Amino acid sequence: MSLRFLPLLLCALSASVWGADAPAQPLPFSHKVHAGTMKLACKMCHPNPDPGETMTFVAPAKCMDCHSSIKTESPAIQRLAAAAKSGTPLPWVRVYAIPTFVDFSHRSHLEKGNTCQECHGPVAERDQLAKEVDLNMAGCMNCHRTKKASLECSYCHEQPK
Ligand code: HEC
Ligand code: HEC
Ligand code: HEC
Ligand code: HEC
Ligand code: HEC
Repeated sequence: MSLRFLPLLLCALSASVWGADAPAQPLPFSHKVHAGTMKLACKMCHPNPDPGETMTFVAPAKCMDCHSSIKTESPAIQRLAAAAKSGTPLPWVRVYAIPTFVDFSHRSHLEKGNTCQECHGPVAERDQLAKEVDLNMAGCMNCHRTKKASLECSYCHEQPK
């Protein structure tokens, strides 16, 4: 390969390492705008209802507290308004998701002082979210090792009955 293709190759490589993993979302929602610039609390849009496993996503109607008057001329906000009116949840594409055979609870991790950033990166600085922290089995294990939490198989996987 001649050297003149090198810059092109490097570009392609860096694109696949940085930024390529953010899934396309149904609306151009930005955490940098909402959680960064506006400093809205994470829990405003991600409440953690009992029993506390999941963080959940707010319904479009809650977004309309602001968007019934902000950016109403935007086609994206008009789609948001239509979803709110019909009571349809938006089909957000999941970024972090683990298989159901793994036991995981947000609440018990937050109660032990683990932070959103440790597991999800600097969300409030991102326009689009990509999976930037490894939360597969090795990722869970690394933090458990560092923080002296259990590494027993049955801690994260229910024993077969
Ligand atoms: C506290 C007020 C507030 C809430 C709540 C809020 N937003 Fe926003 N949103 C804003 C502001 C302010 C902007 C930036 C407007 C601008 O660029 O001038 C914005 C921008 C946006 C944009 C970009 C629109 C465009 O075309 O530029 C989208 C999409 C959006 N918000 C979606 C949402 C969704 C979805 C929710 C609920 C999960 C939500 N917003 C909740 C205030 C809010
Ligand atoms: C105004 C509402 C709003 C606020 C405030 C907000 N989020 Fe979100 N969040 C969303 C929406 C909408 C999505 C789905 C679209 C996306 O992934 O960007 C989302 C997605 C996520 C996801 C991806 C979850 C998955 O597995 O798909 C994480 C992680 C997350 N938010 C963390 C945070 C953290 C941490 C904060 C506070 C620093 C925060 N969010 C503040 C609305 C919000
Ligand atoms: C110890 C690691 C860890 C911490 C701390 C953590 N998360 Fe998560 N988060 C995860 C994992 C793992 C998933 C995927 C869970 C699943 O698929 O069942 C997830 C999923 C999510 C989702 C998608 C909905 C759900 O619950 O599956 C949102 C939204 C989210 N996290 C927001 C937050 C916010 C906001 C904080 C801080 C208040 C936070 N997370 C703290 C690991 C963490
Ligand atoms: C940022 C560090 C961190 C990460 C990442 C992390 N954990 Fe933990 N986890 C902890 C700590 C700390 C505890 C509390 C240990 C104690 O003091 O009891 C804990 C406790 C637990 C518990 C016992 C409490 C409960 O909920 O029943 C389970 C199960 C668990 N983690 C599963 C997971 C799984 C599955 C993942 C990956 C998807 C994961 N953890 C990722 C730090 C982490
Ligand atoms: C701290 C939490 C945690 C502990 C401890 C843990 N696992 Fe896992 N395990 C996970 C998570 C998260 C996944 C799903 C993500 C993945 O496949 O990496 C998983 C996936 C698996 C899978 C499926 C792999 C696949 O490719 O689908 C097997 C099998 C497994 N674990 C066995 C074990 C055994 C055996 C132990 C004990 C040596 C163990 N796990 C301990 C969190 C844990």
